[in-house]
This record gives sequence, structure tokens and C-alpha cells, in this order.
Amino acid sequence: MAKAKTVYACTECGAQYPKWAGKCEACGAWNTLAEEVVAAAPTSKRTAARAAGGIAGTTVSLGRVTTADTPRWHTGLDEFDFVLGGGIVPGSMVLVGGEPGIGKSTLLLQVAARLEAAGQPTLYVSGEESALQVRLRADRLAEDASAVSLLTETSLETILATAAQPMAGGQVKCLIVDSIQTVHTELLEGAPGNVGQVRECAARLMRFAKDTSTTVFVIGHVTKGGGIAGPKTLEHIVDTVLYFEGDGTLDHRVLRATKNRFGSVDEIGVFRMVGTGLIPVENPSALFLGDRSAVASGSAVCALMEGTRPVLVEVQALAAKAGFGTPQRVANGIDSRRLALLLAVLDKRGGFSCAQLDVFCNIVGGMRVQEPSVDLAIVAALASSVVDKPLPAQAIFLGELGLGGEVRPVSQVERRLAEAAKLGMTKAFLSDRAIPRRAPGDMQLVGVRTLTDVLQRTVGKDAS
Ligand code: TYD
Ligand code: MG
Repeated sequence: MAKAKTVYACTECGAQYPKWAGKCEACGAWNTLAEEVVAAAPTSKRTAARAAGGIAGTTVSLGRVTTADTPRWHTGLDEFDFVLGGGIVPGSMVLVGGEPGIGKSTLLLQVAARLEAAGQPTLYVSGEESALQVRLRADRLAEDASAVSLLTETSLETILATAAQPMAGGQVKCLIVDSIQTVHTELLEGAPGNVGQVRECAARLMRFAKDTSTTVFVIGHVTKGGGIAGPKTLEHIVDTVLYFEGDGTLDHRVLRATKNRFGSVDEIGVFRMVGTGLIPVENPSALFLGDRSAVASGSAVCALMEGTRPVLVEVQALAAKAGFGTPQRVANGIDSRRLALLLAVLDKRGGFSCAQLDVFCNIVGGMRVQEPSVDLAIVAALASSVVDKPLPAQAIFLGELGLGGEVRPVSQVERRLAEAAKLGMTKAFLSDRAIPRRAPGDMQLVGVRTLTDVLQRTVGKDAS
């Protein structure tokens, strides 16, 4: 195919240049120029008329838009359907991101096998692995993927042309591209994986999805910074973004919806990687608390709201005498700046100084926590580790901490407490303004106002 006319546009400010340069002269940003196709002159009469002055479009009143004829597809992988908002929406485009080895290819191959079995012809395009490699993976799965059509290809034009043709099972209903970074279009000169290529390929796949009502899944690798290559641009294009999180060395994985045009965001699904692929975990809280030792110091439990579901997680802290030099602060699963802030509050308002101590803080199970409701659990775990005294067994801590050491209420307290009670928790420390009228089961609710209140009632040291 002939090369299209292209320009280099800055992804920060939009300025355009005929040639690539390291720095954008307009906004001064470095390394932000990406190649883009310049729209060709209008060819058909209709587009020519549009370009000349526009022709009126047809409007429809919202009430008349039919909704009934878009049933969702269910894969039977319950956690996957749940994260998508109740199944796959036909004609949507979903981006699945995650670090290498986390299980993206495995998950989508399982989805392909299940869709194919449900009568939706599926085309799996692999630009990373050979047919043999994909076959070897398929052989390990519990699902039978033998009917899935496979194409090992990296040219976008070939992929789209193949997807437009009927497969053995009929017209392709679902197209899976593994991965977007390996695909390239002939229209651009840049190497596969660069911002311009990724963006153009994603936009063309999106158009294909909408034009043909084919569901498109694309796998995206995350960069060192944690984003999917093509600074956010890819995420703007697609309908739904799912991130695979988790510690590659552990056997469970968390799939999180960070954008969803067809469901709520921040829903999570939890899977376990076993010899036969990924299997949904029915009770994530039980999994996350599984190995917890209630008699060790430095361990506290918090109930998070992940989307619409409460999930219990264990926070572990270890404060140990620093060797020499500046004491270390290592945060796993929480923002390290948040940890620094909580350490300062604990020192100033709680009277527990960690200035001479190395501090390690970890959310067990590879969860990443963004909610401030975990603050109280973190400081309780830290204080418990400093004095080496375990916190009350079977207690949960719910609360955001203010800079003044005040404990703030968290949202949806009832649901969090109910989940905690279900897992055998018998005591909860929370803001006294958030105490619900009825406690679930025989749970004891301890209302607290300040950090000092909590510390006095748990590790027994007065702030003085
Ligand atoms: P993979 O899906 O290739 O990861 P990604 O596409 O995100 O890079 O799978 C990664 C890991 O999963 C790999 O280390 C092997 C492991 N695995 C299992 O444990 N069980 C299985 O059944 C399969 C297929 C893979
Ligand atoms: Mg892969």
C-alpha cells in the first residue's frame, strides 16, 4: 500500500511538524512527537458535500433508541463478565493492559475458547507468539480452544481484511489482537509500538468494531511508568479499559476496570492462575486474609470498597532499626507519598516516631489501594510494629486520617462491616460519626475521634 501523507504532531499540545524532532518547539516538551496520517482529500460526493458546507444529519429522540436488541454475551468466567458490567457488549472495544507474564494472553485465549463454544466465531491474532506457542498454551487450558481461528500477523491491513472474511464457523464476531504494540499500519513509517502507530491502529480497530459490530479486544503492554504505551491516548479511544494487577510471583490476579462505557468503573474481578489457566475466585476477601497471622505485630485489616463490592485486605507494616544513613521507606500497594504523610501524622499527632527506623508497608496479596479508608489500618499497623504489640485479633480499622490526626468517616460503612462480619471479624474501629444504627451480627463497634483514641485503645500508648 502506498504511504499516506503524514505529519508529526505533539501529543501534549497538538503542534504539527513535517519532520520528527526530539523537542516540540511550541510547548517545549521532549519526545512527544508522534506520526499521524493526514486525512486525504474528500473523495465521494457525500464527503465532498460535507466538506463544502455540510449536509444535515438525522436526529433521533433518545426515548426511541432501542436498547432491547443488544444482549450481552456471557463467557461463564463470572469475574470477567462482572468486571465488564455484566458480560461483553457486542461491537465494543476493550483494552486489556498489564505487565508481562501477568496472564493477559491466557485470559483472552480462555475468553476466545468460551465465545467460540457459545457460537460466536472468534479470531485470535497473535503478533507476539508463533502458532505453536499459542497452541501449547491452549493445550494447558481447561477450555477447549481448538475451534478458535488463529492468525499470526502484525500488519493491521491484513488483520482487518482477514477479520472481514467469514471463518470456518461463520462471520467473525469477536477479534482479539495480542498485542497492539506489535501491530503496524502501512500508512505510517514508524516502527510498531511507537505512539503514532499504536494510536492509528487502535483508532482503525475501533472504527472496524463500530462499522461491523465486531467485538474487539486488544492487549496492551504497560510501560515502566504503569501506563499503556501511547500516553493515555489509547485509553481515550477504546470503550473499556481493564488492567491486570497483581504480583507475578503470586498465583492470584486482580482485573480492574479503570474505564467502562458500559458499566461502573473500579469494579474488580479476582482470578487464580492455576495449571489450567485462570479461574475466578468467588470469595476474594477470604483469599486475601488466607495466610494472616493475627498474633503478629504490625498487621491490621481494612475493608475496601472495590467498585460495588467490599473486599477485606491485610495491611502489614514493619518498623525496624535502620542500619545507617537515611532510614528507608518502602511502600507496596500504597502510594509512597501517602505513607510519608501517615508517618508524619503518626509522629506528630500520635507520638510514635519512626525517624530512626526503616519502614516497610505492604498490602498483602498484591492489591493496589487508592482509597483513603485504609489510612487508619496503616497507622495502626505501624504503631503496632513500633511497640511490637499485636492489634486486637479479629478487628478491622476503617477511617481516613486528617493532618490533624482526626479520624474521618468512610463511605458505605454498612456494606464494609457486613463483609467483615462474614469473615469472622468481631470488632471495628471507625469514626464515631460513621457508626451505623445496627451492627452486623454481634460485632462490637468502637467509635473513635482521633488517632490518639485508636492508639490508646489498641497498642496502649498515650500520645502525651
Ligand atoms: P501469559 O498469558 O503468557 O501472560 P501475558 O500475556 O500477560 O504476558 O501467561 C503468563 C504466565 O502464566 C506464565 O508465566 C505461565 C503462567 N500460566 C499458568 O500458570 N497456567 C496456565 O495454564 C497458563 C496458560 C499459563
Ligand atoms: Mg502475552
